[in-house]
Formats: sequence, C-alpha cells, structure tokens
Amino acid sequence: MKIKTVGIIGTGTMGLGMAHVFAQAGRNVVAVKATPGSTEKAEATLAGGFSRLVDRGKMEASERDAILDRVTVTTDEGAVADCELVVESIIEDIATKKALFERLEDICTPEALLTSNTSTLSVTAMMAVCKHRGRVAGLHFFNPAPVMKLVEIIHAFETTDTTLQVLDEFCKDIGKDPVIVQDTTGFIVNRLLTPYMLNAIRMLERGTGTIESIDQAMKLGAGLPMGPFELADYIGLDVVEAMSSNIFEDVRSEHHAPPHTLTRLRQLGYLGRKTKKGFYDYSQKPPVQNPDLAHPFA
Ligand code: 3HC
Repeated sequence: MKIKTVGIIGTGTMGLGMAHVFAQAGRNVVAVKATPGSTEKAEATLAGGFSRLVDRGKMEASERDAILDRVTVTTDEGAVADCELVVESIIEDIATKKALFERLEDICTPEALLTSNTSTLSVTAMMAVCKHRGRVAGLHFFNPAPVMKLVEIIHAFETTDTTLQVLDEFCKDIGKDPVIVQDTTGFIVNRLLTPYMLNAIRMLERGTGTIESIDQAMKLGAGLPMGPFELADYIGLDVVEAMSSNIFEDVRSEHHAPPHTLTRLRQLGYLGRKTKKGFYDYSQKPPVQNPDLAHPFA
C-alpha cells in the first residue's frame, strides 16, 4: 500500500513537526487541530519553519509554496476520512486517546492505518477499542521531528506484520530510520532516557553538581548534543513528569518516580523552554540556570 495522504490529529509541537516531515517528503497532509480555536497559529508555525529554510538558502520559495499547498489544517476530524495513514498526537491521556480511536474507526476506511505518537502510553489499550485491530500501531517521532532520524514503530498486541511492513517502508521513504519495538511502557528511547533525566535531577538534589556542571559533564564526557537539564527543558517538564509517572505506574520502582524538584517546577508552571523557565531561565541570553535551584532542596 502506498501512503499518499496522511492525517495528523493534534497540531502541537510533534503534530506540526510530523506535518513538516510528511509534506516535505511529498505527501498530502490533513492536520486536524484537536483543541478549540482557530488554525491560524498552526498554519503560521508550519509556514515559518519552511520560510526559515528559504531565508537560510536551503530551499527555494517555490518549493516552500508547493509543500505548503499539500497541507490542509482544519478543525474537522472528518477530513481524515480518505487518509491511508492517521497519526494521533493529542494530549497524553489514555481516555482521550481511546475515545479518539473509537471515532477514527467510524471516520476512516477499514484499511487505513491508525497510529499513535504516544511517548509512554499503551498502544494496545488504544487498539482495544477498535474493531479492525491489525491496522493499529505506534509511530513515535522525536523532537525536533524534521531533524531526528529515528521513528519507533510500535508493535502492539494484534498489529499485523503487513501493518509493520507498510509503516517501515513509509518511514524509510520519508527519510527516517525506523526500529520496530514491542509495546512496553516508554518503548526503547523514553524507557532509557526518562530514568537518565530523573537521575540527573536527583543528583542535583543531592548537591553533586550544578545544573550547568552536570549538563556540561554529560555533553563533553558522553558526547551528547544536550545535557539532561537542557533536554528536559526542551522536551517540557510536564511531559517528562508524565513519562516518569507512566513508567512508575508500570514498574512500581521508586527509582522511576518523579523527583520532588520536577514536580515542584511543574506545579509552578515552569515547564522549560515553552514557558521560558524550567531548569534554565530562557529570558536571559544565553540562558542561565534557574537561581531558585542553586541549592540542594531534596
Ligand atoms: N525544525 C527544523 N529544523 C531544526 C529544528 C526544528 N525545530 N531545530 C533545529 N533544526 C535544524 C537546524 O536548522 C540545523 O540545520 P542545519 O544543520 O541544516 O543548518 C540543525 O537542526 C542544527 O540546529 P542548530 O544549529 O540550531 O542547533 P544545534 O546544533 O544545537 O541542534 C538540536 C539542535 C538538533 C535540537 C540538538 O541539540 C539535538 O539533537 N538535541 C537533542 C534532541 C533530542 O534528544 N530529542 C529527543 C527528545 S525525546 C523525544 O522527543 C521523545 C518524546 O516522546 C518526549
């Protein structure tokens, strides 16, 4: 099956990042804004991403225009009816996602592949509300989607081999390097990355180092593009806490529970880059470590 038109439900960072990738790879995209409000901001964000490439001489303006012509942003979920593939990227709440999959079963053809970009929720739980279960899988992209090469294709309990094969070919076709992963909490990357970030936070709480020294150590000593605090701020502290809670819920090991500092920052609404404050204060250029976290407070 050739996937020509892709539906995306949710126009947050990941939804728009995937829209960017699919449209640039020549696919038609129907992106559905899942929360109330107009589509203007999502359209402007998408156009802005391609315009930056034009400004930096990486893309002709005519190519940008042709790519944007392939994308429809809408508030109408029914607009994904003719898509061969739908990826949901809505709020990380299992009840909301299950309700969406139930609706997609009615909206889409029985052959359409229905997938989730969830970070740590069970794809099998979403599959369970569907009549045609073999076509349900996970399709987990990484932020920033246009840059990160990996896609985890999640093999849920009743996902068929044909579905996995079509998704594998699709990912390779759009320039990604996919891996197939069994449907376990956090899959591969988040299952390893989440405890790594939690351990860094506990290390900060113990006073082993500062935010900056721990980040610098991991960048220079382990060859990573971002240190654990930069990464947590980049992902979003609400997302990191939710991933931690979901993994903890599954494995029930204290090691995976959200540390005190993470929860406190989230309670204060300091969610990282998107709120301009988290482990770092992004109102300063260059960002400085959040002064309230300069002392251990476990
Ligand atoms: N959209 C499009 N392109 C982008 C981009 C974006 N949002 N952000 C960066 N880029 C491009 C730049 O245009 C640049 O391209 P060029 O080399 O062709 O000019 C290239 O990426 C490098 O960008 P910069 O020079 O601006 O900055 P850096 O070299 O510092 O790289 C980074 C930025 C790619 C974000 C790098 O720091 C990185 O790889 N960080 C780690 C990201 C990571 O680990 N992501 C995974 C998070 S976990 C996740 O997503 C799972 C989820 O379930 C939570």
